[in-house]
Amino acid sequence: MPSTEAKVVLVTGASSGIGQACARLLSARGHTVYGTSRKPGTTLEGGRMLELDVTRDESVRRAVDTVLAESGRIDVVVNNAGFALAGAIEDTSLEEAQRQFDTNFFGVLRVCKAVLPDMRARGSGLIIQVSSLGGVVGLPFQGLYSASKFALEGLTESLRQEVAPFGVRVTLLQPGDVRTPITDNRVRVRQAGPGSSYQEYFEAALGIIEKEERAGVTPEAVAEQVLALMGRRVPEVRSTVGHLSQRVLTATKAFLPSKTFEKMVMSYYGLTRG
Ligand SMILES: NC(=O)c1ccc[n+]([C@@H]2O[C@H](COP(=O)([O-])OP(=O)(O)OC[C@H]3O[C@@H](n4cnc5c(N)ncnc54)[C@H](OP(=O)(O)O)[C@@H]3O)[C@@H](O)[C@H]2O)c1
Repeated sequence: MPSTEAKVVLVTGASSGIGQACARLLSARGHTVYGTSRKPGTTLEGGRMLELDVTRDESVRRAVDTVLAESGRIDVVVNNAGFALAGAIEDTSLEEAQRQFDTNFFGVLRVCKAVLPDMRARGSGLIIQVSSLGGVVGLPFQGLYSASKFALEGLTESLRQEVAPFGVRVTLLQPGDVRTPITDNRVRVRQAGPGSSYQEYFEAALGIIEKEERAGVTPEAVAEQVLALMGRRVPEVRSTVGHLSQRVLTATKAFLPSKTFEKMVMSYYGLTRG
């Protein structure tokens, strides 16, 4: 699959942010792009928008079948659909936690399971998993979000090895903060209100999180990295994209003593030990 060849690409969550930027760039580069959104009637500049809710098996099946019926194959999947849940872990209901995982983790798993039979049979294909630097560092008050991305990291390490003999490649892309509607779309856990013992810490940390996101890199920068990954014969297990300071800081986790690293993260988000 040479990098110059036009590919059939499926980008989940292409109605805004990173997914939309990916869909636009890839179609501008001559690839056949299918984007997805849960909202019927959403359009995609330069590509075809399919209705897809990654939390529903039959919805995933239908979208994948449509691409296969129309284009005969799926060369690249960008598993991008996701959302951010915010709140103290103690304040998060099991139902809220499950919903976060159902989109960010099981949603990706559903899409992988739906596209792999065709990729395996053809002996080629690339799956790009949009993880996060929050999949490397457990972020306070984004615990379930981080957990969903940590889970995705583990799944992908395993999947990558299993499908490699069939010529299928899987890679993790870890963006730092990116300026997208994810900030306004963030879901706060129901108990994160005035009754919560964590409220003061939560609001302070969330203020920092949101400020950083609004100062993040553009979604187009992430799309450029997706395009670059499509050109690699064997992409890295994981790559990062975002402000250098965030990428370097995250990388220090590998060699700093874990309590030192934790203290750095805590103080960044205004947390101290009691
Ligand atoms: N922005 C950042 O700072 C950042 C950093 C690291 C990683 N990421 C990751 O990047 C990915 C995209 O985020 P973004 O920043 O571009 O956010 P966004 O602008 O809010 O876009 C999220 C996309 O996901 C789709 N989506 C949400 N739930 C879905 C579901 N159940 N089924 C299908 N589609 C669903 C939305 O589509 P509809 O609502 O139209 O269905 C939308 O297109 C996420 O996985 C996120 O975790 C973002």
